[in-house]
Amino acid sequence: MYKSSQSLDTLVSKDNSQSKWWRNSQYRTIFIFLTIILALLIIILSLMLKYMVFAPMKPETIVTTIPDGTHQWKWSATHKNMNVGRKFHTASVLKNGKVLVIGGFYHDILNSVELYDPLKDSWSSAISMTYGRYMHTASLLTDGTVLVIGGNDGYTGQNSTELYDPSTETWTTVDSMNHGRIKHTASVLKNGKVLVTGGKHGDDYHRSAELYDSSTKGWTSAGYMSDARVEHTATMLNNGKILLTGGHNLRALNTAELYDPSTGIWTTTGSMNHARYSHTASLLTNGKVLVAGGLNSNGALDSAELYDPSTEIWTTTANMNYTRWYATASVLANGNVMVTGGANDHVLNTVELYDPSVQTWTTVHNMNGARHLHTASVLKNDMVIVIGGRNSDITLNTAEFYSLV
Ligand SMILES: *[C@@H]1O[C@H](CO)[C@@H](O)[C@H](O)[C@H]1NC(C)=O
Ligand SMILES: *[C@@H]1O[C@H](CO)[C@@H](O)[C@H](O)[C@H]1NC(C)=O
Repeated sequence: MYKSSQSLDTLVSKDNSQSKWWRNSQYRTIFIFLTIILALLIIILSLMLKYMVFAPMKPETIVTTIPDGTHQWKWSATHKNMNVGRKFHTASVLKNGKVLVIGGFYHDILNSVELYDPLKDSWSSAISMTYGRYMHTASLLTDGTVLVIGGNDGYTGQNSTELYDPSTETWTTVDSMNHGRIKHTASVLKNGKVLVTGGKHGDDYHRSAELYDSSTKGWTSAGYMSDARVEHTATMLNNGKILLTGGHNLRALNTAELYDPSTGIWTTTGSMNHARYSHTASLLTNGKVLVAGGLNSNGALDSAELYDPSTEIWTTTANMNYTRWYATASVLANGNVMVTGGANDHVLNTVELYDPSVQTWTTVHNMNGARHLHTASVLKNDMVIVIGGRNSDITLNTAEFYSLV
C-alpha cells in the first residue's frame, strides 16, 4: 500500500509538475512560435520605418561626405564603354546634366553622337550630325542648345556649323562660317554671341575671327588678331573680355591678346614667359588665368603661369610634376584646377591638382588608363568624367570618372 501510495504520489507530483504550462512541450512550442512571429514583426516594422519613414528625410550626403580614411577620391570606369573609340571629339555638359559627346576620329571622321547619363551611369546613341568632323568645337549656348563649329572633314578645315537641340534631340544646319577652320577656339560671350578665333584651313593659319549671332543664326566678321593662331586657348575673363594665349603659326607663340565684345576691338596684352601651344588655360575663382604645359620647340612643358587681368602681367607659378601637352584642365567647385593625362614622350595617366590659394601642384590618384586627345567635364558633386582619347596606339572608347568612393 505504502509502496503504491508512494508511487502514486510520485506520479501525482509528476503530473503536477507537468501541468505547469511552460513545462508542457505543446505550450512551449506555441510560445517559441509566437516569440519568433513577434521578433519577425518587429524586424519587418523597423525595416519599413527605416526605408519608408526615415530614408526620405536623410539629406544627400554625396558632396558633404568628408574623406575619413575609408572614403577617397578615385577613378572608376563607367559601367559600359562608348559605341566607338574617339579622339579629337568634344564633350558638352547639357543643362539636363547629360554629357553630349560629338564626332571625333576613329578609323575615319565620325558624325555619330553619344550621350552619357551620369545618374544612370549609362551611354545611349543620339542622332548623328549631318557632317562628320574632328578638331571642331562645341559650345553650350545660353538657350541650352549646342553649336558645333568647323573641324576637319577628312580633308581640310570645314566651314559648316550645326546646332543640337536637347529638347527635341535633333540637329539643324545653320549658316556656314566665312572660313573653314580646325583647331580654332569658340567662346560664348556674355551677350550670347559666339566668338570664333584662328584655326587652320589647308596651309592657311587664320588671323581672322568671326561672330555667330543666335538670333539670325548667321556669321559676321569679328576683325583680325595680331597673330595668326592655331592650337591656342581662349578664356573669358570676369570683365567679359576674351583672353587668347599662345598657339602657333609655324612657330610657337608667347604672345597674348584681348578681345573686347563691347567695342569689337583687339588689343595685345602682356606676353607669357614661355611660348606654348596645345596647352591649357583656366579662369580661376580669383579672376586670374592659369596656363599650364603645352609644347614648343624645346618639347613638352611642365611650366605654368598666371595672368593678372588688372596688371596684364604674367608671373610664373610652380611647375607641374610632369611635362604634358594635349592634357585637359578643369576648374572644380572648390577652385582647384585638375589636369589630366596628355603626353610628353609617352601618354600619361597621371593627374595633378593646382591649388590657387597656395599656388602648388599635388599629384593625385592616377587614371586607370593613359590618355591624351581626350575630354574632361565637370559633373555635379564635383565628379570629373574623362572620355575617349588615345593611348599609345589605340583610340579609346573608354570613359572614367573621378569621384568620392
Ligand atoms: C563653305 O565651304 C564650302 C566647301 O568648301 C563652299 O562651297 C562654301 O562656299 C563655303 N561657304 C562659305 C559661306 O564660305
Ligand atoms: C613626380 O614625377 C616623378 C617622375 O617623373 C615621380 O618619380 C615622382 O614620384 C612624382 N612626384 C609626385 C609627388 O607625384
